[in-house]
Amino acid sequence: MAEFLTDIKEIRARARQEIDKGPITSAYGADLPRVIQVCNEALATELVCVLRYKRHYYTASGIYAEPVAAEFLEHAAEEQEHADRLARRIVQLGGEPDFNPDTLTTRSHAEYDASLDLVEMIKEDLVAERVAIASYTEIVQWLGDDDVTTRRVFEDLLAQEEEHADDLKGLLDKLPDALRR
Ligand SMILES: [Fe+2]
Ligand SMILES: [Fe+2]
Repeated sequence: MAEFLTDIKEIRARARQEIDKGPITSAYGADLPRVIQVCNEALATELVCVLRYKRHYYTASGIYAEPVAAEFLEHAAEEQEHADRLARRIVQLGGEPDFNPDTLTTRSHAEYDASLDLVEMIKEDLVAERVAIASYTEIVQWLGDDDVTTRRVFEDLLAQEEEHADDLKGLLDKLPDALRR
């Protein structure tokens, strides 16, 4: 481990340099353009998840639809919060959050889905959550101690995606076998 900088004058002098970079100081250890790009891919993923869950919420039908649709709606709201956190962090890092709808699905890790069957919907959502879990786990490991704040954002998202996947697995298990085929 490198020695901790204790020269207060030096710390103050460095803080005055490049103040246009806002919170990014010389202590920032990560590859900033790459971090912004990775955050934007995650932002696209979250936005696609919002759209997929909304689509599923409005089209879920059948006698078992009600509790499942309620779960879809809750997840949609949480994915929107995730998108907002990522957009905010991208701006903090000096980047631009990419909300361009034309390229959303090509930049997203998870896929959109327009299944009409309730079980298919849940399965597709579970796959998307598992994609997010795998990619956010890698991002957390990649960031390590180089950008602790961005890492914490991804850690929080990761924990919630795991809850989502668990919720969906629970729904699948509760549905009657006849529906699950
Ligand atoms: Fe999310
Ligand atoms: Fe999720």
